Amino acid sequence: VHPTAARRPHAIVVQSENTSYSDEYITASFKNRGAEVTVSDGQYIINPTVQSFEFQTKRAPSKTGLMMIGVGGNNGTTLCATILANRHNIVWHTKQGIQQPNYVGSLLRASTVRIGNDPATGKDVNVPVSDVLPMVHPNDLVLSGWDISGVPLDKAMQRAQVLDYDLQRQVAPHLALIGKPLPSIYYPDFIAANQEARADNLIPGSDKQAHLEHIRADIRKFKEDNGLDRVVVFWTANTERYSDIIPGVNDTADNLLASIKSSHSEVSPSTLFAVAAILEGEPFVNGAPQNTFVPGVIELAERHQSFIGGDDLKSGQTKLKSVLAEFLVNAGIKPLSIASYNHLGNNDGHNLSAEKQFKSKEISKSSVVDDMVDANRLLYKAPEVGPKGLPVGKGEHPDHIVVIKYVPAVGDSKRAIDEYYSEIFCGGRNTISIFNECEDSLLATPLILDLTILTELLTRVKYRKTSGETKEFAPLYPVLSLLSYMLKAPLVKPGTDVVNSLNRQRNALESFLKACVGLESNSDLLLETRIW
Ligand code: NAI
Repeated sequence: VHPTAARRPHAIVVQSENTSYSDEYITASFKNRGAEVTVSDGQYIINPTVQSFEFQTKRAPSKTGLMMIGVGGNNGTTLCATILANRHNIVWHTKQGIQQPNYVGSLLRASTVRIGNDPATGKDVNVPVSDVLPMVHPNDLVLSGWDISGVPLDKAMQRAQVLDYDLQRQVAPHLALIGKPLPSIYYPDFIAANQEARADNLIPGSDKQAHLEHIRADIRKFKEDNGLDRVVVFWTANTERYSDIIPGVNDTADNLLASIKSSHSEVSPSTLFAVAAILEGEPFVNGAPQNTFVPGVIELAERHQSFIGGDDLKSGQTKLKSVLAEFLVNAGIKPLSIASYNHLGNNDGHNLSAEKQFKSKEISKSSVVDDMVDANRLLYKAPEVGPKGLPVGKGEHPDHIVVIKYVPAVGDSKRAIDEYYSEIFCGGRNTISIFNECEDSLLATPLILDLTILTELLTRVKYRKTSGETKEFAPLYPVLSLLSYMLKAPLVKPGTDVVNSLNRQRNALESFLKACVGLESNSDLLLETRIW
């Protein structure tokens, strides 16, 4: 993946009456086809639907900054160091030989999308995903962030023990220029007590309104100092415990703002950062599992039309689970139990060894098979229907457990062990066991990049309905569920269903990018190969 590959202004040009290009915008018309289904006397009555839209994408990527909360941690330092290695083309020696920097593991930078066929050969033509629409190049991101630990980034990278020594050695002087993380907010109750020793770089006081103002000022200053159009604020700090959702405290936007003013104890640091970003009109992405997005945050994001996305990076075990569970259920095989064990030895593992923080992770890892099970009522019994005609409970489900243990010796090299135990033909049983050794931060870092770059892109896309009365172009809905591919517990528009299937998540993203340039969604019908 050559770093300059997608710096061309028009990597692809669509010649069609559906697509037009101006200096400023790409505009494409799109037909959203679906079907309405009702059930009557046991029969499914289906009415195909079609709605016409236009998408308008601002062509020039924003000059974008990435401010990470937890920049001094394993993910934060790995991301800064690897971007710098790519930017300065630092090569390093490993015991296997010479290693070039790259963006392997990034959906945008290291994977492709099929855009059609070569008429001469009939062969598929695939292009890098990042060529479909103009996107920020990761090398161009301006980096900054906060951390409760004041260790400068070059030293923090050494502490993380993720990167090869020869890379650390060469990249350290570049990292040293970013220097020390900005002081952050520390409310000890939200992360594990074992983190306290790190907390030496704090915004003073306990006034949450003052903390909010401080973070907002940090974002503004970073933006101004670097002449940025856009700042993506990204939580890659320790996993917090869940916040209680308390009526009158964090259930509405106004209540949440009032609770910040009165320094209510249930407002977490991550929620404060999210509110700061929203009030500054900058997107916020949550890379950890806690419920940062309490209902008041979502309402505030809607009110300010400011983008949010989350929760929890989907790097290893859950990514595989969202593929394997779907494969089994779609093959007509019935998983009876999924048992997942993890052990890891980095600071994330240390924090997760505390019960409340583990609980946040357990919740985010647990719901990943729900939609696949719900979609197949041949295998799993539907929930009973209660007296009011509503379902009671979730219906039949596989047993699903998640265990996480802290084993310092393995460091950042997390082990994930999964057993899928399934019912097969006529009462038979099938067991699949997986041992997945992940270099945690090297899997997570490209996801942070993809999330940041996609988020910036989605701030440049507007849409309007063209069937019926034509409206003005409007921004997308603030909760960016199109980011689901990279997230374990995708946040979606309230009242809509979460899609966990990795294939469907990727398909949604590809289809959306293509729609923005006026190309049809993916079709594997390949009719020309089926007919004379
Ligand atoms: P880490 O523990 O190395 O880094 C977290 C950093 O956050 C630390 O430097 C800590 O000092 C800082 N921090 C804690 N509270 C803070 C606050 N209020 N303000 C500013 N900084 C604060 O952890 P790592 O491995 O970088 O992971 C970061 C987060 O990403 C964790 O929540 C983890 O669960 C999540 N995650 C990581 C994945 C991975 O594969 N590495 C995958 C999925 C999620």
